[in-house]
Amino acid sequence: MDLRAYLQTALDAAYLAKSIHQYYQERGFTQSTKSTPTDVVTQADHESEAAIRSLIAARHPDHVVLGEEQGQDKEGAFRWIVDPLDGTVNYAHGFPFYAVSIGLEAHGEVVLGVILDTARNELFTATKGGGAFLNGRPMRVSTRDTLLGSLLATGFPYDVNKDPENLTYFQRALGQGLMVRRPGAAALDLAYVAAGRLDGFWEVKLNPWDVAAGWLLITEAGGRVSGFAGEDYRLGNRYLVASNGLIHDRLLQIILGK
Ligand code: IPD
Ligand code: CA
Ligand code: CA
Repeated sequence: MDLRAYLQTALDAAYLAKSIHQYYQERGFTQSTKSTPTDVVTQADHESEAAIRSLIAARHPDHVVLGEEQGQDKEGAFRWIVDPLDGTVNYAHGFPFYAVSIGLEAHGEVVLGVILDTARNELFTATKGGGAFLNGRPMRVSTRDTLLGSLLATGFPYDVNKDPENLTYFQRALGQGLMVRRPGAAALDLAYVAAGRLDGFWEVKLNPWDVAAGWLLITEAGGRVSGFAGEDYRLGNRYLVASNGLIHDRLLQIILGK
């Protein structure tokens, strides 16, 4: 497996997405809604996914792509898992916390993850067994070992009224005096855990494109990603808790009310 070539593809695709994000941020864009009136999709989401797909198809014609906007149409041993614009609501408001997230799964295992914050130009990368990097420098999770004093984040699905489960977890955490943010871009939240800027994160109902790259970033940076029963995380699990490892079990206890 030529991981170095695949990483180059992921980087080129991420910077292509960045130029599209910037182009429409400067010139304006059309937008519409998907599942709910707050589930926004813009021209930048569609065009960055199309550009990423073309690049991958040109370089690796036998690879498969799962992208948020176009889905996946065939099976294959190598699957790119792409959120062309994570944090679309932020993007649509000019709130500079959004990113492109690209993961590569080989034979069912995520082996590469790239998240590029396209507003700040911060690049988070990881390869399986090769460590995690922020702008080319090794990054590690934080070393904070107490929940009180930790900086945490979460997020909510667009249909939160239909599915208010995380409101309960959120309330429990706040009720314990914990510091919880809701930044609005799950992939970037995960990258921030990997970089030690956040000590922990949880969310319910995330999709593989929100998680694939960030999950690898965190494990390669020395952190832990699990389901709500503390089991090792697997793509497709809609319950995710991520942390520096040290506060993990305690965070799970608090949000589950134990
Ligand atoms: C959303 C963001 C948000 C999270 C939602 C996601 P999108 O992704 O990551 O932070 O809370 O669950 O759907 O729609 O901006 O790509
Ligand atoms: Ca997303
Ligand atoms: Ca998206």
